[in-house]
Amino acid sequence: MTATVESPHSHAHADAHGHPHGTASVDPGAPVTLSARLREGTRKVHDEAENQSFVGRLMSGELDRDAYADFLAQHYPIYLALEEASAAQRADARGASLVFDELTRTPSIEADLQFLFGADWRDAIDVLPETEAYAARLRELDGDLGAYAAHAYTRYLGDLSGGQIIKRMIQRHYGFGEEGVSFYTFTEIPKAKPFKDVYRERLDGLELDEAELDSAVAEAVVAFGHNTAVFRALGARH
Ligand code: HEM
Repeated sequence: MTATVESPHSHAHADAHGHPHGTASVDPGAPVTLSARLREGTRKVHDEAENQSFVGRLMSGELDRDAYADFLAQHYPIYLALEEASAAQRADARGASLVFDELTRTPSIEADLQFLFGADWRDAIDVLPETEAYAARLRELDGDLGAYAAHAYTRYLGDLSGGQIIKRMIQRHYGFGEEGVSFYTFTEIPKAKPFKDVYRERLDGLELDEAELDSAVAEAVVAFGHNTAVFRALGARH
């Protein structure tokens, strides 16, 4: 499912059919870079994720601290799996460029869960089947760079974007200071915008072939779908 196969649309094939100097023909209207393709390709599913009622109710203060704690608890298995995949990419000649220590979230989630649930947080958190399914997908990536890029993009650029809005709303409505919401604080990334620009440059520098680019965008849609499924399940619980 995440395997990358040579497709008939790959550069190699296009080159063999009329572009001997490697200038593959490109639809002039279509986005070329991976970052642009990801943004374009996930616009609709982003809106869907953002418009989930659980997200709206959490952000408008209609829920309570327990709902936020449950929401954050779902992040734990997801980031464990994502950051295991990051560790695997570090060893990859192309993938290493996309792995940033300053993005690592697992330790902040652990600290937040300790604050929210107490010392026995590992037993106290209640992981949803939808969360397990998301984490399982991440564990299946098996070194596939395009698919890893899709998942890392979906989470980290989201955390650095909408996540910053979520943090402020959670603090405002549920009375948090910094403790409990450290997941949203990237201490080594003082300004999100320039970092996101660098991240997009790294995405665009991965040198994926056409088939890998296509599968990366498709996998990002899958990643958003998992996030939406978790929100739906949280909405049913709270
Ligand atoms: C409360 C819900 C959300 C809000 C308010 C929100 C808001 C935003 C905003 C304002 C941006 C644009 C930032 C910019 O241009 O720099 C953004 C980008 C992004 N968001 Fe969200 N978002 C939400 C939920 C999500 C979710 C659930 C995900 C996926 C897990 C996500 C992933 C992303 C990604 C990947 C981007 C970067 C888009 C790009 O420039 O390529 N967001 N979000």
